[in-house]
Amino acid sequence: MFLCRQKNINLRSNQEIVLKKSMGLFRTLRSNIFLFLLGFLFSFNLYGQVEEGEKLFKQNCASCHLMSSARLVGPGLEGVTDKYEKEWLISWIRNSQALIASGDERAIEVFEAYNKSVMTSFDFSDDEFTALLDYLANPPVKEEIASNNAQNSVEQGMSFSTKMMIIALILATIVFLLVSIKNSLKTALGKETETIPQTLFSQYQLFVSNNINVLFVGAVFVIVSLKFVFDLLMGVGVTTNYMPEQPIAFSHKIHAGINGVDCNYCHTSARHSKHSSIPSADLCMNCHTYINEGSVSGKKEIAKIYDAIGFDPETRTYIEGYEQKPIKWVRIHNLPDHAYFNHSQHVVAGGLECQDCHGPVEEMDVLYQHAELTMGWCIDCHRETEVKMEGNNYYTHLHEQLKEKYKGQPITVDKMGGIECGKCHY
Ligand code: HEC
Ligand code: HEC
Ligand code: HEC
Ligand code: HEC
Ligand code: HEC
Ligand code: HEC
Repeated sequence: MFLCRQKNINLRSNQEIVLKKSMGLFRTLRSNIFLFLLGFLFSFNLYGQVEEGEKLFKQNCASCHLMSSARLVGPGLEGVTDKYEKEWLISWIRNSQALIASGDERAIEVFEAYNKSVMTSFDFSDDEFTALLDYLANPPVKEEIASNNAQNSVEQGMSFSTKMMIIALILATIVFLLVSIKNSLKTALGKETETIPQTLFSQYQLFVSNNINVLFVGAVFVIVSLKFVFDLLMGVGVTTNYMPEQPIAFSHKIHAGINGVDCNYCHTSARHSKHSSIPSADLCMNCHTYINEGSVSGKKEIAKIYDAIGFDPETRTYIEGYEQKPIKWVRIHNLPDHAYFNHSQHVVAGGLECQDCHGPVEEMDVLYQHAELTMGWCIDCHRETEVKMEGNNYYTHLHEQLKEKYKGQPITVDKMGGIECGKCHY
């Protein structure tokens, strides 16, 4: 009895100890989780700021600066926040010329090292400066371009037919396993076994002996063939995904994506005119006078720019009397002559992003046609997209009339006349 009670007490205290221990554990766990959440929220906040800074950098600085040690138009900005204190950086970015004029030694030194080229002045708010400097202090880890490429090709390599093949293989394995199981069961019962072809054939005979089955398969076959022919006919002249090989392996992912060069830096005329031009080799040379080697293609592709323009990368001089050869870029997007399309109308007046029509260009190593470029594609968007009224000085008078006519209703492009034949056809 005593022993029993003793045991009982022991048992209880044991339970208590376990309970206490687990409560303790729970408490530390709870405070840890709390700390973790706090840290998470904080890092999230910081992340948001770095992201804002990244945006500012890409929009304002990336056309002249890289976030590495390599020079572009200006010096690479890696580690620049260690080199200079915050106040100096802010006054430099606000107005580098004023700082130079004030006799600041370090400012004069950089200025002279860079052939006295003038950096643009920027009038940012305090918050924007904080975000920008945070970004300069914590730049993203440099992407592994080569491994990224490998990953891309794996993703693209899994085409529809590959997936179908894999599914077919899995199904075949299942059939094989089931037949094997069936056969081993039959052997266990002492019955006669069938080989796989025999099983398949007997199943087939069972299937076709039923008329409804045959009718069903026939109907599916006819529908699939009709759909195929229909798609083929509708697809005449539609060149979605057209991706020709270009004379130089130019990558939008490296330029517009990883290095954040703005689309308008190269395709300047998209904002001013009907066409968006392809940049000339002179523009490439703004950066490639210094950058003569790429991390993917080495010197091979960039050498083609020098060959077109007559530049000697060893001496960094242009060859005199060189007969320049234009780079023959293969045109990708092409509307028929009877259709009229204007870039500045869409980008400036319409306020659309290039990506709305051209897709994720900044992720493309090789550029391809993203949209269908059919009449239906133009018209669908005109039916869905509201006209941007603010800051649009093109049609102020028309907009007033439209607001009057469609009181309170959303005004889409079609209401402005965007689906009249004459607007798009000469
Ligand atoms: C039009 C080209 C251009 C743009 C745009 C530009 N810079 Fe510069 N930057 C330069 C040049 C060139 C220099 C070298 C000094 C000089 O010649 O004035 C420089 C120098 C600097 C330096 C001094 C670096 C050092 O190592 O001494 C900093 C910091 C800097 N820029 C930051 C920025 C930031 C931040 C932005 C964007 C807000 C920016 N720059 C935008 C051209 C540019
Ligand atoms: C460094 C210069 C540069 C930048 C920055 C750049 N592009 Fe390009 N773009 C080119 C060159 C060169 C070509 C022609 C070669 C090719 O098609 O890849 C081109 C071709 C194109 C084409 C296909 C034109 C055709 O033949 O139909 C489109 C569309 C395009 N760019 C959109 C963009 C967009 C959108 C951005 C911004 C996200 C951008 N580009 C940024 C240089 C640039
Ligand atoms: C604003 C600066 C800038 C301009 C303008 C520019 N590039 Fe580049 N280019 C770069 C940078 C930065 C790299 C990346 C080097 C690397 O791979 O690290 C690069 C890399 C390349 C590469 C090699 C890619 C690789 O990694 O193998 C080619 C080819 C190239 N550029 C072609 C062009 C052509 C053609 C033009 C003109 C249409 C052009 N670039 C205009 C900055 C520029
Ligand atoms: C509303 C859709 C739309 C938007 C937005 C748009 N594009 Fe285009 N883009 C087109 C169409 C359509 C074509 C084919 C034009 C043709 O063949 O006449 C084209 C062609 C091009 C071409 C080939 C040269 C030419 O003009 O024919 C380039 C380069 C280009 N776009 C770049 C850009 C850039 C850069 C932006 C952003 C500043 C942009 N596009 C915004 C629809 C668009
Ligand atoms: C992503 C949406 C989008 C696509 C795709 C698009 N558009 Fe537009 N389009 C607009 C917007 C938005 C406007 C209104 C611009 C403005 O406010 O002036 C517009 C305006 C126009 C206008 C002027 C209409 C008027 O009444 O003055 C024409 C012409 C036009 N687009 C032609 C085309 C053609 C041709 C295509 C196809 C090749 C096309 N658009 C594809 C969005 C689009
Ligand atoms: C928003 C612009 C737009 C409007 C509005 C428009 N079209 Fe088109 N249309 C196009 C474009 C772009 C193409 C070229 C499509 C292609 O190449 O696949 C085209 C092609 C055509 C074609 C040639 C057949 C074809 O599909 O290629 C005919 C015919 C045509 N349009 C008639 C009309 C008529 C009639 C109207 C008025 C009811 C009209 N379009 C209104 C943009 C427009």
